[in-house]
Amino acid sequence: MTLISKIDEKHIDKNEIKKQAEILKKGNTVIFPTETVYGLGANALDEVAVSKIYEAKGRPSDNPLIVHIYDKEQVNDLAKEINENAKIIMNEFWPGPITIILKKKDIVPMRTSGGLDTVAIRMPSNPIAKALLEEVKLPIAAPSANISGRPSPTRGKHVYEEMNNRVDGIILGGDCTFGLESTVLDLTNDIPTILRPGSITKEDLEQVIGTVNIDPALERKEDNIKAKAPGMKYKHYSPNADVFIVSGNSEKVIDKINELVNNNSKEGLRTVVMCLAKNQDKYKSNTIVLGNNLEEVASNLFNALITADEEKYDIVYTEEFSNDGVGRAIMNRLLKSAGYKIIKI
Ligand code: TXA
Ligand code: MG
Repeated sequence: MTLISKIDEKHIDKNEIKKQAEILKKGNTVIFPTETVYGLGANALDEVAVSKIYEAKGRPSDNPLIVHIYDKEQVNDLAKEINENAKIIMNEFWPGPITIILKKKDIVPMRTSGGLDTVAIRMPSNPIAKALLEEVKLPIAAPSANISGRPSPTRGKHVYEEMNNRVDGIILGGDCTFGLESTVLDLTNDIPTILRPGSITKEDLEQVIGTVNIDPALERKEDNIKAKAPGMKYKHYSPNADVFIVSGNSEKVIDKINELVNNNSKEGLRTVVMCLAKNQDKYKSNTIVLGNNLEEVASNLFNALITADEEKYDIVYTEEFSNDGVGRAIMNRLLKSAGYKIIKI
């Protein structure tokens, strides 16, 4: 049985938080909202508890987990050394959607770090996540609350449908603001490196810590460059529908998609187009509007992919977005959900 708590982030019900915190303290699993995506949490320092996360998600066990904290002081318990860059990032962006990788202390089990000698740490800003972490007073390992390979849920309804009865507790706390997972920044080398792009961008980081690299494995499809964040190498964010990115000059993209939609419907395939609001009326098919700008697209993307499945589409065409700012994170997730299938015109 899963204990379900509905909590309004503006009027947090302390009693419900306590009940869910008890579940975590006993070494069991609780799903909770964060400002990025919902997380599936367990005590990061308890190997048995952490195993339950992998089990609930069906996740490969070499994929390390992010450890969530409510107080910056907790980093001292988890990391061997907090370098200057780490201090700056923690001051500038925490609580918020950025995860830092540091050398781990022995207290962090290998099960949590996926066998690595480093640990990923993040202090979320979502008020429900904060209240839960503060009540538990333990570092909580929490990957996104999806079954491995599926889009990460950002809406309570999708969490419930996918994870009810797979975990011990679920906190339903509304929609996640950012909608894409946190930026993952490796701070264990001289030059900080982004292992996963998110809504805190390379440009944002460079303003405070100077040069930041991007893991070269992110820029290409071939896995011959080993991704440093193990999670980036797996099939990811995939709905059941076949996703294609259509790339090129905007008017031509619209014409091409309309032609493809027409061919598909002759073959009896159900097609939907994911697009910016301003283009919606130009498509001769059903559409899922992603928003008016990149921030809105980021916030709606996973919801849109899950909706495409709920509505039983066979094929999704999506417009391409620029790689600027948060666009990099959007394109990273889109390319993965499309299995790198791009129609170039
Ligand atoms: O926004 C988020 O980060 C969400 C919410 C719940 O906080 N969590 C999340 O966790 O996305 P997850 O497990 O789905 O993704 C963690 C990513 C993976 O790509 C993983 O490989 C990488 O971080 N990672 C974790 N620990 C690492 C480490 N020690 N070294 C390199 N990469 C690491
Ligand atoms: Mg994930």
